[in-house]
Parts: sequence; C-alpha cells; structure tokens
Amino acid sequence: MSKPKVFVTRNIPDKGFELIKDFCDVDLWAGDLPPGRADLLQHVRGVDALLCLLTDKIDAEVMDAAGAQLKVISNFAVGFDNIDVNAATARKIPVGNTPDVLTDATADFAFALILSVGRYLMQGARYVRNGQWKTWNPMLYLGVELKGATLGLVGFGRIGKAMARRAIGFDMNVIYFDPNETKPDPDIKATSVDFETLLADSDFISLHTPLTADTHHLIDSESLAKMKPTVVLVNTSRGPVVDLEALYQALKDGRIFGAGLDVTEPEPLPLDHPLFTLDNIIITPHIASASKSARDKMSWIAAKNLIAGLKGEHLPNCVNPQVYQQK
Ligand code: DGY
Repeated sequence: MSKPKVFVTRNIPDKGFELIKDFCDVDLWAGDLPPGRADLLQHVRGVDALLCLLTDKIDAEVMDAAGAQLKVISNFAVGFDNIDVNAATARKIPVGNTPDVLTDATADFAFALILSVGRYLMQGARYVRNGQWKTWNPMLYLGVELKGATLGLVGFGRIGKAMARRAIGFDMNVIYFDPNETKPDPDIKATSVDFETLLADSDFISLHTPLTADTHHLIDSESLAKMKPTVVLVNTSRGPVVDLEALYQALKDGRIFGAGLDVTEPEPLPLDHPLFTLDNIIITPHIASASKSARDKMSWIAAKNLIAGLKGEHLPNCVNPQVYQQK
C-alpha cells in the first residue's frame, strides 16, 4: 500500500523525522533557507500532509495548491501566526502546534537576555577580548539588580508563568498583563495589572504574547514613553509585537536602559538596521527555544500531530479543534 505523501519544509531533529519517514513518503526541503513561495506552492501539490516552520507562510493559496486531499498541517512551533488558521478551518484541515515542551527553554533564554542586558554581559566580554581590561574598576559596567525589582510580563500563558516562577527565585516582584487569562494560578505569586500599570511599574518587561492584530506593535513609541528610564525590555515572542523604529529612538535617546530581542521584524534583521549602531541592545537569531531537548520534543510532537491527522485521529495539539465539530 502506498504511503501518504508529506512535504517537510526543512530539516528537523531525527526524533520526529524518523517517525514521519516510517509512516510517510517524505519530500524534504533540505536547504538551509526556507523554500521560496514558488517552490512551496510546487512542493505542496498533491500532498496529504504538510510539516511547516514559522518561516513558511501557509495561507489559502498554499492549501488550495496542495489540493482537497490535504489532511493536516503540522507547525514545528508553538506560535502559529504564520498559518491562516481560518482558511484551514474553512477547509476542515486541522492545524497542529508544539506547546509545553519549549516553555522552560524559552523562559531560561528570556532570563538570559534580562541578565545579559541588565549586567552588560556582552559589553564586558567584548571589553576583555579587545584588550581593554587593565585592572579591577569600581565604576565599570554598573548594571541593575534583580532582587526586589519588578518584572512585568506581557502575556501570562505557559511561558509567562514559567518566567514568574524563575523571577520568584530571584526575589523579584511579578506583575502581569493578560486580557485572555481565564483562571489565575493560585500557586504563582504574581499580580494581574492593566497594561498602563505594567508599563509604569516594571523594572524589567518581558513579552510572551502571541502575535495578533491586537498585539501588533503593542510596544510602540507611546508605550515606550510610559516605561521607566531604567527598564530592560526583552522580547522572545514575535518580532512585530515591538515597533523597532520606536524602540531604536527610545534606546538611542536613553529613554530606556536597554533591550534584548530574540525576535525582530523582519527576520533576519538587515545588518544596516539602525539598531545595530547601538550598544544597549542584544539581538539573537530567534533561538529562545533552541535547547537540544526542546527541539527534539518539538519534532516529536510535530510528527505525532502529523501522523494523527493522516490517520483521521484528533491531533494531540490542535489549534483549531472546531474542525472536529464540523465533521
Ligand atoms: C515557537 O515555537 O513559536 C518559537 O518561536 C520557536 O520555537
């Protein structure tokens, strides 16, 4: 019996890829860069399943190019703003994502950015390498401490809560803004506040919100103006949540202390972007979830979603469960 056909848009860890290979006839895009639009549209033609990355824009055109036999779209990411989920739902195609397994890796990394920016880690390392380290200096790189400081979390889902747990270990106060919170977690010492209060009261702000129409450029010149001049802003969510033009102005004018971005708009950020002229920012290449264990587990879950969809079973992690009511 012939195996179902799947297009996998990039190399993913073996843990999940081996599962997919056992079950499917795989067309793997082996390039380091994502397939371009024309290649994507060509390779999806006739497939039963699609395993895609956050770098692939999966819209109605791609779904229609695949054809009516397309049974499942499995995203190798927890975020799914790259997929037109409404278009998938209208075509009764379940969409899978990979929550939970990257929560701790992402929260660890957001804290790494908080500490690196707040304590001049990059500047200090560069100073040593440049041969500038001549003696111990009581005035060198005086940063900000976490103990007693207030961490403001925008978004209090899995990763936001993991941030709060870490922050409590650092003796920080935690406040959060999340209009979508359904039930507060009594085990986590954190206070829900409105957005204005979060901006005004936080010493560190970390973004953990999905990208939606409401969160696009949520951090703009207006919100930056309401922050403390000593604040450290960190973004490990999605690039377009922060208006980079406004952030550049705020950093350049010293209106905030510094920023750590693991995500940008666009990605990659062109090297001639003005943010690269500043010293009070660290930009990393969207690697917050990049622990070996998290990426292995992401590939496993993405494979499980894909295979469940092909078997006509409910995806273990489905972002549009409405498709099951339609059937
Ligand atoms: C995600 O999964 O959405 C992250 O941005 C990448 O791991």
